[in-house]
Formats: sequence, C-alpha cells, structure tokens
Amino acid sequence: MRSDAEKILLTEEEITAKVLQLGQTISTDYANKELLMVGILKGAMIFMADLVRSVNIPVEFDFMAVSSYGSANKSSGVVRILKDLEQSIEGRHVLLVEDIVDTGLTLKYLLENLQTREPASLRTCTLLDKPERRQAEVTVNYNGFTIPDEFVVGYGLDYNEKYRNLKDILVLRPEIYQKQGEE
Ligand code: PRP
Repeated sequence: MRSDAEKILLTEEEITAKVLQLGQTISTDYANKELLMVGILKGAMIFMADLVRSVNIPVEFDFMAVSSYGSANKSSGVVRILKDLEQSIEGRHVLLVEDIVDTGLTLKYLLENLQTREPASLRTCTLLDKPERRQAEVTVNYNGFTIPDEFVVGYGLDYNEKYRNLKDILVLRPEIYQKQGEE
C-alpha cells in the first residue's frame, strides 16, 4: 500500500464487480429505452468509462463540467456550469453519473437544472455515497457503495488533482491534506 494511504477502502476487484452489477441493473431497467448517460467531470470520468462498457443496451453519453465551489461558499449550493451538454435532452431518458455524492449540493443543482429541459426521465447513479455529509436532499437511484465520512481518493477522485488514476479507492492519511492546508 502507498505510504500516503491510511487504508484501502475499496479494491480494484470490488469496484470492478460493483460496476458490472450496476451496469446489469441499468441495462435491465432501461431495456427498451434509449439511454443517455451524462457524466460529471472530472471525478466521474473513470467510473463513467467503465460503466458505459458494463451496460449491454445501446447507450449514448455526454459530459458536463461544473465549478467546484470553494470551501467558504460550499453550503450556498451555487454551482457554475463550465461545460454544458452538446445536445437537447428533451424527451430523453437521462441518467446522471457521479463519482460521489457528498453534501448533495452539486447533484441537487444539476437535477433542478436538467429537469427544466424536460427529459422523459431523469435518474442518478453514483459510485460512492457519503450520507453523513448530506445537506441537500437528493434521490440516488443507483448507488455503488455507501461509505463513511473519510477523505477518499482514487478511481477518479482527487486531492489537489492528484490520485485520480489509482485503481483502488484509498483513505488518505490526514497528514497529507492537513499539511497542505497549513501552507
Ligand atoms: C466532486 C464530485 C461531485 C461533487 C460532490 O466534484 O465529483 O461532483 O464533488 O460533492 P457534493 O455532493 O458535496 O456537491 P469536485 O467538485 O471535487 O470536482 P471534480 O469532479 O473535478 O473532482
């Protein structure tokens, strides 16, 4: 294990098995529908890439990028869209794909925003759910793992843009992010 990790929370094998399972459930649920999966950059990129290959129905995908608000105004729930969808979603079956739902503020904003575009349906899928941190009530339709309130990185999740490429999901040692915060 890496020296900057406190522990491995989820191994590559556990993640792979879960993504496959999610893909199968989604394939069943959307069997006769045209599905558009929308990944939220950048964290969801790795999960999204595996998930779209785990479904066995025709699927289209697109991405959105939203600003990551600073810690000071995080609770405001204000999210800025940096990159929007390339197509209209009116009448489409849309599945929003996130790596993690934490406070829920990002997802709440996105759901409200996308709902105004009149999709046929709008659901959410996240690999990780951290319910202890929730500030906004949001419905997670497909969840990979419910996790405790720990600082996790890997498989798309970052600390200061690093660790996204790790295959496992790790709990970062507090010294790593506390040290940085004091600089
Ligand atoms: C993360 C994650 C979600 C959001 C969840 O993104 O990908 O989009 O935070 O947090 P919330 O439930 O408290 O709103 P982040 O802003 O870190 O950007 P990134 O995906 O580029 O890493």
